[in-house]
Amino acid sequence: YPVESIRNFSIIAHVDHGKSTLADRLLEITGTISKTDRNKQVLDKLQVERERGITVKAQSASLFYNHEGINYLLNLIDTPGHVDFSYEVSRSLSACQGVILVVDANEGIQAQTVANFYLAFEAQLSIIPVINKIDLKNADPERVEKQIEKLFDIPTDECIRISAKQGTNVEKVLQKVIEKIPPPQCNTADPLKALVFDSTFDHYRGVVANIALFGGEIAKGHKIVSAHTKKRYEVHEVGILTPDEQPTHKLYAGQVGYLIAGMKEVAEAQIGDTLFLYKQPVEPLPGFKSAKPMVFAGMYPIDQTEYNNLKSALERLTLNDSSVTVHRDSSLALGAGWRLGFLGLLHMEVFNQRLEQEYNMSVILTAPTVPYKAVLSSAKLIKEYGKDQITIINPAQFPDKLSVSEYLEPTVLGTIVTPHEYIGKIITLCQDRRAVQKDMLYIDENRVMLKYLFPLNEIVVDFYDALKSLSSGYASFDYEDAGYQSADLIKMDILLNGNPVEELATIIHNDKARAAGKLLCERLKETIPRQLFEIAIQAAIGKKIIARETLKAYRKNVVAKCYGGDITRRMKLLKRQAEGKRLMRKIGNVEVPRDAFIRVLKRE
Ligand code: GTP
Repeated sequence: YPVESIRNFSIIAHVDHGKSTLADRLLEITGTISKTDRNKQVLDKLQVERERGITVKAQSASLFYNHEGINYLLNLIDTPGHVDFSYEVSRSLSACQGVILVVDANEGIQAQTVANFYLAFEAQLSIIPVINKIDLKNADPERVEKQIEKLFDIPTDECIRISAKQGTNVEKVLQKVIEKIPPPQCNTADPLKALVFDSTFDHYRGVVANIALFGGEIAKGHKIVSAHTKKRYEVHEVGILTPDEQPTHKLYAGQVGYLIAGMKEVAEAQIGDTLFLYKQPVEPLPGFKSAKPMVFAGMYPIDQTEYNNLKSALERLTLNDSSVTVHRDSSLALGAGWRLGFLGLLHMEVFNQRLEQEYNMSVILTAPTVPYKAVLSSAKLIKEYGKDQITIINPAQFPDKLSVSEYLEPTVLGTIVTPHEYIGKIITLCQDRRAVQKDMLYIDENRVMLKYLFPLNEIVVDFYDALKSLSSGYASFDYEDAGYQSADLIKMDILLNGNPVEELATIIHNDKARAAGKLLCERLKETIPRQLFEIAIQAAIGKKIIARETLKAYRKNVVAKCYGGDITRRMKLLKRQAEGKRLMRKIGNVEVPRDAFIRVLKRE
């Protein structure tokens, strides 16, 4: 295939607007897959993706298409739809020259449509707007075309109205891809320049890297070098994705495919790395910002005897998901475990679900926190850390106010698209979450786009659910990283009869401490069983108590009741009590069952 007959493109869309369905149809039309139900959504491979109907890991496919007597090679690069994975969107886009922007004819432009449009626009890609689901009874393609014109400045007559489900006009989309998206600008005669845009790990073959060739050619036996690690490899296999791996003799400039070259860890095939031929170095392509974890949580085995099994499951799962960070951690109540970093809450849930489904592990995940920062002022601490600014992902490491000149918290710029009748409630919700309004725009007579700057910790837990419930499911939300801002942070301790419970300490904004402290105390009161003495459950900031609940003493004596009666019954009770004790953690003189921690720490 000469470069002029190659097109590299992605499909981008808000969740559920039909990206995978359209991809399947394109694969069918081009004969890449057969028309059976079994093949539905072939690009979504993971079980969790099928269950949740979301794409987590990008998959690619090469399509062969004859148009007006010319054979074209169309490389479709699939992208995930959810905000947590938007780094995967930008990484996929860098291998493309154009995108198909899919918008649901009934729902219209949503928050992720806006975010994805700008990613493609900023990358200067050709954009083909497609209005999907025109077969729906409530479809209003005209209204959606007007929204697209207003927001993205794309003339209404450029939109293609399709039904991916029924196949209507899908062929037109392919023709538009050929007409409107330029072929990649590169030359096979140039030295090899290959961009790594994704990588997966295979137990038998090692790392399989997805690559896009910006110059030259690559074949089995070639000696290549990674610009990032400077390590040398010999190519074992190259091929195209159909979407299964299909070995080919060579890959040429402009093509997209995979490469196996004896790399043993995903870290060796860094996303954004450039590969070149040994002795023919080239200027590396601009790489990507690496994915930054935004949400941290503790992970512990439910039973400590499962520790080693969980450890090996984590190791295997992170081989394929290098965006998860893992640090060892331990807790007096929960035992040995890890502190994991995720891109967002959904990412965390998906990871947890994969552990359960693919490795049969069930774990305790603690309440998530975001990465705070502290600018240190104490000379002693600066010396200890070797720097004057530290990131805090664990409340236990929170430095005292006296040794800090400023605390910082991560922020995100959120986009909300909503029918206008919910604006009032949404503005109140955003204000409650300490957000600052940046923009408000009517995208048609009754739909509004709002932009707010949020402290990340205010949205990680339940913002999305709150937004969905107060808008009856109609508002959509997306966000992007917006750097750090100064914040009035404190560490809140929980005390049982005056003794701090380390695993319940949280970092929190000063204004929110009182309410959060009260809630935690109430929950603890419900979960800790009564004991022979009264227990004070308190929330404190330093020495100041901000909330208190009292758990009354328990009077009855279980054993006394049946003393003198059946001896085996008495033995059974004592034995049960001894077993129960093993599951207790003693804080001062207070015994707290392990599952009370689990219930309080676990996300609702
Ligand atoms: P993510 O992978 O989560 O981003 O979703 P997606 O954009 O890939 O959406 P998907 O293709 O999974 O489609 C979502 C739902 O819309 C599915 O139930 C599809 O069957 C349905 N759907 C897709 N296209 C059409 C269409 O043209 N008409 C109708 N009526 N339904 C459609």
